[in-house]
Amino acid sequence: MKIKSLLAALLVAALPMSQGIAAEPIEPIKAHKPKNPKLVELGKALYFDPRLSKSGFISCNSCHNLSMGGTDNLSTSIGHNWQQGPINAPTVLNSSMNMAQFWDGRAADLKEQAGGPIANPGEMAFTHELAVDVLKSIPQYGTMFKTAFGTNEINIDRVTDAIAAFEETLVTPDSRFDQWLKGNKKAMTKQEVNGYKLFKDSGCTACHYGPAMGGQSFQKMGLVAEYDTKSKVEGVAGLTGKDADRMKFKVPTLRNVEMTYPYFHDGAVWTLEEAVDIMGRLQLGREYSKAEIADIVAFLKTLTGKQPDFKLPILPPSTNATPRPTPFE
Ligand code: HEC
Ligand code: HEC
Repeated sequence: MKIKSLLAALLVAALPMSQGIAAEPIEPIKAHKPKNPKLVELGKALYFDPRLSKSGFISCNSCHNLSMGGTDNLSTSIGHNWQQGPINAPTVLNSSMNMAQFWDGRAADLKEQAGGPIANPGEMAFTHELAVDVLKSIPQYGTMFKTAFGTNEINIDRVTDAIAAFEETLVTPDSRFDQWLKGNKKAMTKQEVNGYKLFKDSGCTACHYGPAMGGQSFQKMGLVAEYDTKSKVEGVAGLTGKDADRMKFKVPTLRNVEMTYPYFHDGAVWTLEEAVDIMGRLQLGREYSKAEIADIVAFLKTLTGKQPDFKLPILPPSTNATPRPTPFE
C-alpha cells in the first residue's frame, strides 16, 4: 500500500509537468462560435428527432437530455425495447474537448461517434439506411440539408456531420470557477477555494486537467486499490485485449458534475461525497476527512457552467411516405 501510494504520488507529480508550466492546470471553457449556423440548426433537429430510432421514440436527447446536464441521470441507459444498457451515459456537454469518444475511446471524434447509437441494437436499434429513408421521405428535411450543405442530398455522412456540428456548440462557459480563474475572486467562497486547493495539491489534476477537467487521457480506475463493481465492462482492454488495459477508462469531465450523477462507468455511485471519497482512496491512496470531502464537493459544484440555451426545435412532420415506427418489435 505504501509503495503504491508513493507511485501514485510520483505519477501525480509527473503528469502536470508534461502539461507545460501554465499557472493553473485547468483553463476556462471558451464559448463556441459555429462556422455554419445552418448546419448546427439541422444537427439540433436530428439530435432531437426520435424518428432516427426503430421505435420512433428514442432520440439522442433521450439518453443525453440537455435539460439534465446532457445525461439520463440513470446508472446505465435504457435502450430499444427497454433493454438494460451496459454502461453509464457520459454527458455530451463539452464532449468536443475529448481526445476520443466513449469510455474506452473507440470513436475518434464526435462525427464517428454519432453513427454508433442509431445502428446500435441496444440503443436506437435502427440502420443507417432506414434512418436516411425516413429523412428522405420528409421534404422539409431536404430543404434543411440544402441550406446546410448546398444540395438536398441526404446520407449518413451528412447526418453525422450535422449532429457533430450541433454537439460542438454544447459547451458550458462562465461557471463560477471560470469566473474565478479569470480573476473575479468574489466568484467563489472561501470553502470552495479551499476545496480547489485541496483538489490541486492532492493530485486530482494529474488526471482531471484541461478546460474540461478530463477527457485528455485513459487511466486505470483503481490505481492504488481495486474498484469494487458488479459491472463486467473491462474498459480499454475490451478493445485491445491487453491485460494492462483492464479497467482503464477515459477520464470523465468534471464540468457540470453536480448535474451528471450517478457517477463512474457503472453509474453505481449517486453522491459526489462518495465519489470524492472513492477517488481519494483508489486513485491517490488518501483518506480525506469529512470536512475535506465537503470542501472538494463545494468546489466541484462551482463547475456548473452556462447550459446550452436555445429554442426547442420543432421537427418537420412525417409524410404519407414516411416509413412507420415499430416500437414493439
Ligand atoms: C439508449 C441511450 C443512448 C442513446 C439513444 C444515445 N446515446 Fe450516446 N451514449 C450512451 C452511452 C451509454 C454512452 C457510453 C457508451 C460507451 O462508452 O461505451 C454514450 C456515449 C456517447 C458519447 C461519448 C461521450 C464521451 O464522453 O465519451 C457521445 C458524444 C454521445 N453518446 C452522443 C450521442 C448522440 C449524438 C446520439 C444520437 C445519435 C446518442 N448519443 C444516442 C447512451 C445513448
Ligand atoms: C489517476 C487518475 C485519476 C486521479 C488522480 C483522479 N481521478 Fe477522478 N476519475 C478518474 C477516472 C479514470 C474516472 C472514471 C472511473 C470510472 O468511471 O470507473 C474518474 C472519475 C471521477 C469522478 C466521477 C465523474 C463521473 O462523471 O462519473 C469524479 C467526481 C472524480 N473522478 C473526482 C476526482 C477527485 C475529486 C480526485 C482527487 C481526489 C480525482 N478524481 C482523482 C481518474 C482519476
